[in-house]
Amino acid sequence: MSDQAGGTSFTHTDLPQVGKRVLRIGVAGNYGLQTSDIQHAADQGVGFWLWSPHFKKVTPVLKDLLRRERERHVVAAYTGTYGTIITAGQVRKGTEKALRLLGIDQIDVLLVGWLGRVSRFTPRIQDELVRLQQEGKVKALGTSIHDRVRAGKLARDSILDLFMIRYNAKHPGAEQDIFPYLEQRQPSVIAYTATSWRQLLKPIKGLKMPAWPGSPAANGRPPPLTPQLCYRFCLTSPHVNVVLTGPKTRDQLDENLGALEAGALSSDEEAWVREYGRRVKAKKRLPYI
Ligand SMILES: NC(=O)c1ccc[n+]([C@@H]2O[C@H](COP(=O)([O-])OP(=O)(O)OC[C@H]3O[C@@H](n4cnc5c(N)ncnc54)[C@H](OP(=O)(O)O)[C@@H]3O)[C@@H](O)[C@H]2O)c1
Repeated sequence: MSDQAGGTSFTHTDLPQVGKRVLRIGVAGNYGLQTSDIQHAADQGVGFWLWSPHFKKVTPVLKDLLRRERERHVVAAYTGTYGTIITAGQVRKGTEKALRLLGIDQIDVLLVGWLGRVSRFTPRIQDELVRLQQEGKVKALGTSIHDRVRAGKLARDSILDLFMIRYNAKHPGAEQDIFPYLEQRQPSVIAYTATSWRQLLKPIKGLKMPAWPGSPAANGRPPPLTPQLCYRFCLTSPHVNVVLTGPKTRDQLDENLGALEAGALSSDEEAWVREYGRRVKAKKRLPYI
């Protein structure tokens, strides 16, 4: 995929906090991809990888990619530490284990994965994270977080350089809760749940929509959304650096990467997709978010 510009183009983005430029679709290999599919994704230009010690099929090939082309790949790593009561010691142990498993001496982005509504981000934990950064074991600090209001506050003022957040046509609330707070420190944004746990991909009984922009009514265009429309919706936002995809198969992976070739949604298409998400939300509310 060609990439001429700096900054964020439709296909590529700079991640200044890690000093690398990557394709704007990142891959998570924990929903079914095989080891060889990861190499295939890398061959298509993928350079942003979500990883945890539990992603066992991914680890050998990612380790190999990192050994061969360290400068091209960004690993955003969970430490394998979850729950609400986390200690600074667990953070260090998890980080050192991740470095060992991946055979690298620095993690590009260490993801704090436990910052839910009730969990703590204590000064001791923050000090440990900064120490890991100062020791060079971690380049940038990030979080994978569902609590958008907390994410907005942390985006404004915290040690975190990158926010992995829920953002899709059904749940576009980051536009109010997070995006307005990026300006001051300019942390990077990684979107997940583009398909809203697949809800945007499945037909919903009784949900009616006007015709797809520029099409006659019954021509087989969505609803529901196609996977590419889900990812293109995220990529069309100027605030999103990378959208994650968690394909189950290589065919899904290839289809989803095709979103980059398809380009940004037009304003009419974006409005349609947004309206579809709004109607899905009215029918399928999730009580826990
Ligand atoms: N979702 C969360 O709340 C959350 C939170 C933190 C971290 N994460 C992590 O973020 C990563 C990405 O997760 P995500 O939720 O953002 O994944 P996603 O890409 O929105 O959805 C993945 C699922 O969508 C379906 N799908 C994707 N492409 C498709 C295609 N071309 N055709 C048909 N179906 C397709 C597949 O479902 P089928 O299995 O039905 O084929 C696939 O398993 C994962 O590592 C996840 O663990 C997610």
